[in-house]
Amino acid sequence: MIPAIRGTHDILPGDVERWQRVEATARRVFERYGYAELRTPIIEREELFAKGTGETTDIVQKEMYAFTDKGGERITLRPEATPSLVRAFVEHSLEQHMAVPKLYLMGPMFRYERPQKGRYRQFHQLDVEVFGVADPAIDAEVIDLAWTLMTDLGIRDIDLVVNSVGCPACRPAFAEALVKALGDDRAVLCQDCQRRAETNPLRIFDCKVPADQAVIDALPHSVDYLCESCRTHFQAVERYLGLYGIPYRVSHRLVRGLDYYTRTTFEILAGNVGAQNAILGGGRYDGLVKQLGGPDRVGIGFAAGIERLVLAMPPADDAARRPLFVAAMGEAARDSALVLLRELRQNGLEAHMEYEGRSIKSQMKRADRLRAVFALILGEDEIAQGVVTVKDMKTGEQVRVPRADIAEFSRARMARQE
Ligand code: HAM
Repeated sequence: MIPAIRGTHDILPGDVERWQRVEATARRVFERYGYAELRTPIIEREELFAKGTGETTDIVQKEMYAFTDKGGERITLRPEATPSLVRAFVEHSLEQHMAVPKLYLMGPMFRYERPQKGRYRQFHQLDVEVFGVADPAIDAEVIDLAWTLMTDLGIRDIDLVVNSVGCPACRPAFAEALVKALGDDRAVLCQDCQRRAETNPLRIFDCKVPADQAVIDALPHSVDYLCESCRTHFQAVERYLGLYGIPYRVSHRLVRGLDYYTRTTFEILAGNVGAQNAILGGGRYDGLVKQLGGPDRVGIGFAAGIERLVLAMPPADDAARRPLFVAAMGEAARDSALVLLRELRQNGLEAHMEYEGRSIKSQMKRADRLRAVFALILGEDEIAQGVVTVKDMKTGEQVRVPRADIAEFSRARMARQE
C-alpha cells in the first residue's frame, strides 16, 4: 500500500457531508453580502508569494512547496489565496467589470508545516477579499460577514479578536518602540525572536515559545502608536462593531503572520478545537495591490480553515438523506426491479439495490444498513398483479401500491414523515 503524504488527508464519506455543509452555507452567506466566486490555479509563480505574502514570513521562508518546473520556471503550490486573488483582480481589470469587486474563493492551500490536530500540509480555505473600499464601514462589514458565517454554521464558543497594526507612516515608530522596549531582554529571547528583532520586530508577537511570553506580553501596544488617520479608522471600526452588537476584544498581540497587513487585523478563535484554535483570520492590506503591479487600490479580506470549521461545528442531524431500497424476490423479478430502481432515480429519489441476487433476508439487512426509509419489494406475485409491496423499515408495516404510483407514493409518504 502506498499511503497518503504526511499532513494530507482523504475526506471520507461520512465526513464529507460536513464539508459540503460548510461549503454550501459559506456560498449562501457570501452571496448575501454581494460576493462572487473566483477560482484561480493551484500553482502560481513563486515570486507572487515572495512579494505578496512577504519575504520575512514563515510561509515564504520555510513553508512553500516551491520547485523548478520542466521549463525552468520557479513555481509554487499556493500557500494562501490573497496574492492569487490580487493577481487575478489586476490581470483581468476586474474593477472595470464589477461595481465593488467582492470576491470569494474556496480550495486547497499548501504549507510545509509540522502536522498536528488542526494543522495540515494540504488544508482548505474559504477566502473573501474586497478591493477599493477604504471606509472603515467595510472593515466592520467583513468582520460581520465572518461572524455571520460562524453563526450560520452553528459554531458557538468563539472569540473575536481585533487590532490595528497601523500603516507605513506610523509603523516604523512602533517597530522602533518595540526594539527599544526589548532592550537587554532581547538577548534572552529565542533565536527566531532575535532574528525577528532585526528583520521585522512586529513578528515577535507570533512567537509561541513559552519562556518568551512574559517579555512579549509587556511590550508596547500598536494601538498606542497609530497616526491620526489610523486611529480614527480603528475607532470607527470599533464603533460599527458596537452598533452591530458583535462582541470582540482588542489584543495587542494580534499582528498576524503575513507581511501585507495595514490597519485592521482580526481573528476568530474557537474554544473546542485544540491548540490550533484560530479558525479564521484576516485584515486590511492597503498597499498590496500596488506592490503586486496593480493600481493603487486598498483591500481587505479573511480566510477560514475548513478543517478547523468542521472541527468546531456541532454534529449534524443526519436526516438529510432518505434512501429507498428495491428488493427482488427471485431471479424472475430482477429485470423489473432494475427498471424500478432506474425509474425512482429518474424521479429524483435516492434508491439502492442488491445486485448479487441474495436471499430476501440478506437484502433486508442491506436495506437496514443503508438506513432505507422503505423497502420496495418485487416478486412474481407483485409483478403478476402490477403492484409493489412497500415495507416501512422503521415500523415493519407493509402495504401494496400500484406499480404506476410507486414514485409518487414514496415521495408523498417521505414528505409526510419529515
Ligand atoms: P492565515 O491566518 O495564514 O491567513 O490563514 C487563515 C486560516 O487558514 C487560519 O485561521 C486557519 O484556520 C487556516 N490555516 C492556516 N494554515 C493552516 C494549516 N496548516 N492547516 C490547517 N488550517 C490552516 C491567510 O491565509 C490570509 N490569506 C487571510 C486573509 C485574506 N487576509 C486577508 N485576506
